[in-house]
Amino acid sequence: MRLEGVHFRYEDAPDHVPDVIDGVDLEIRPGETMALVGVTGSGKSTLLQLVPRLYDVTGGTITIDGVDVREMSLMDLRSLTAVAFEDATLFSDSVRDNVLLGADPALSEEESEALLHLALRTADATFTYDLPVGVDTRIGEEGMSLSGGQRQRLALARSIAAKPAVLLLDDPLSALDTKTEEIVTERLREVLEGTTTLIVAHRTSTVALADRVALLEGGRVVAVGTHAELMETSARYRWVIAHQAEERRRDQDIETLTGELELRAIQEEGR
Ligand SMILES: Nc1ncnc2c1ncn2[C@@H]1O[C@H](COP(=O)(O)OP(=O)(O)O)[C@@H](O)[C@H]1O
Ligand SMILES: [Mg+2]
Repeated sequence: MRLEGVHFRYEDAPDHVPDVIDGVDLEIRPGETMALVGVTGSGKSTLLQLVPRLYDVTGGTITIDGVDVREMSLMDLRSLTAVAFEDATLFSDSVRDNVLLGADPALSEEESEALLHLALRTADATFTYDLPVGVDTRIGEEGMSLSGGQRQRLALARSIAAKPAVLLLDDPLSALDTKTEEIVTERLREVLEGTTTLIVAHRTSTVALADRVALLEGGRVVAVGTHAELMETSARYRWVIAHQAEERRRDQDIETLTGELELRAIQEEGR
C-alpha cells in the first residue's frame, strides 16, 4: 500500500486551518504491520479512514498493489480492506452475523463456523458463548447491550474474520483491561503475520506488534522506523510514548475509581 502526497481537509474546515492530513508519503510493504503513533488530533484516525474511502483524499493518491483506491469499485475496495475502529458499530443482529459480516460468502457452513470461533478466540470474545443463546444472541441497538471493551473485541473479531488483504485498526485494544490486552496482543501477532496492516497504537504493547512505526504530527509523518530506532533517534517520539503511558495510567486510575464507586452504589442499593 502506498500513500503519495496525501492531503485531506474536512469539508467544513475554515480556510485558515491547515489540511488535517498535510502531505503524507508512506509505503507499507506486503504483509507488513505499520503502527501510527501521534498525539490526539494528529490525524491518525482520519488517515486510516482514507484507505477504505470513508473519506476521499483531497490531494495525492493511495494505491494498493499499484491501483488507486478511487479506481476500484467500492465493493472491491471494501472486500480488500477491513476496519476496526475505536468506537465499534455493531448491527442489531446475532453475534454470528456481526462477526461474519465481511467473511467470504463462498465458505461452507462448516468453514464459516470454524472461522467464527477462530476470530472470537483471537479477539478474546468468547464471552459471547455465555450469552443467553450463545453466538445466536442478538446484540446491537435492539439486542443485548455490551460494554465498550466487549464491542471492541467483536469489531476486532469481525475484521479478522474478513481475512482482508489490508487491515486497518484504530486503537483496537483501547477499551481492554491490561490482562485482556496482553492476551489479544499475543494472538493478534499470529493473525497479523502476512496481513498488510496499518494500526493506530496508543499503547507501547500495541506498538510492539508493528514491524515499523510512523510518527504523525499535525497531519505529517515526521519519523519512520522501528520502535527501537525511533526510541533512539527521535526525542519527540520518546516524548509521545512517555506521554501516552502517563495518560493511560490516569485513565486506569479513573476506571478503577469509577468501578469502586459503582460497586459501592450497588452494595448500598442492596442494603
Ligand atoms: N468529522 C470531522 N469533521 C471535522 N474535523 C474533524 C473530524 N474528525 C476529526 N476532525 C479534526 O481532524 C483533526 C485530526 O483528527 P483525528 O484524525 O481524529 O486525529 P487522531 O485520531 O490522531 O486523534 C483534529 O483536529 C480533529 O478535530
Ligand atoms: Mg483517533
